[in-house]
Amino acid sequence: MEALGIDIGGSGIKGAPVDIVKGALTRERLRIPTPIPSRPKAVAAVVARIVEHFSWTGPVGVTFPGVVIDGVTRSAANVDQAWIGEDARELFTKATGLPVVVLNDADAAGVAEMAIGAGRGRAGVVLMLTLGTGIGSALFIDGHLVPNTELGHLEIRGKEAEKRASGSAREDHNLSWDRWAGRVEEYLQHIDALFSPSLIIIGGGVSKKSEKFLPGMTVRAPIVPATLQNEAGIVGAAMAAAEQ
Ligand code: BGC
Repeated sequence: MEALGIDIGGSGIKGAPVDIVKGALTRERLRIPTPIPSRPKAVAAVVARIVEHFSWTGPVGVTFPGVVIDGVTRSAANVDQAWIGEDARELFTKATGLPVVVLNDADAAGVAEMAIGAGRGRAGVVLMLTLGTGIGSALFIDGHLVPNTELGHLEIRGKEAEKRASGSAREDHNLSWDRWAGRVEEYLQHIDALFSPSLIIIGGGVSKKSEKFLPGMTVRAPIVPATLQNEAGIVGAAMAAAEQ
């Protein structure tokens, strides 16, 4: 079975059809820059363009970088504030004429990692953290997702964790890998103390460079890089759509 996965990010909106069983893209993904400002209507038009590009007529899964409850977007840390309270599921369904499932971006990436990546077959409490523009989180208990955990907004030293330890925080503050690794470690220690996960999976762009910051971590919980990297959001969104 195939479903179309679309991943909405702060700078790009990416989509591709996905073979749900293999968790693999069946066609080359299409990336369109996120409109500025990233208002709902403009973003929905891009989602519709991606559907058209693939002449898609089946189920569609769309990720959103904020809280999503029953298809309604409830927060907007790194996108236009107009998303707060928007019925995204209805908006995208109207724009595409197809059934659409909307879920948080980190939750989608986690769903894919648990199915075919670093979390495959792992029981107990597993936490996926994406260190990208913000910090996203996906919490699993025996493979079941607890949606919208938003652990990037935990406070560390009086600041939101994602302002100190996300991938963009490293670039914005010109931090060396070592200094940034120290901040990530402090954050992960805090997470470990609160959740005692049996595994932490680190996703986001930096997961490709995990050798620069993961060795030397003294956090009790085992920490591994994500294996799907860039495509996890697309794959997880498609999996969520196929499940409905
Ligand atoms: C948002 C999360 C999102 C994460 C990664 C955070 O700022 O609050 O919902 O998963 O960024 O995009």
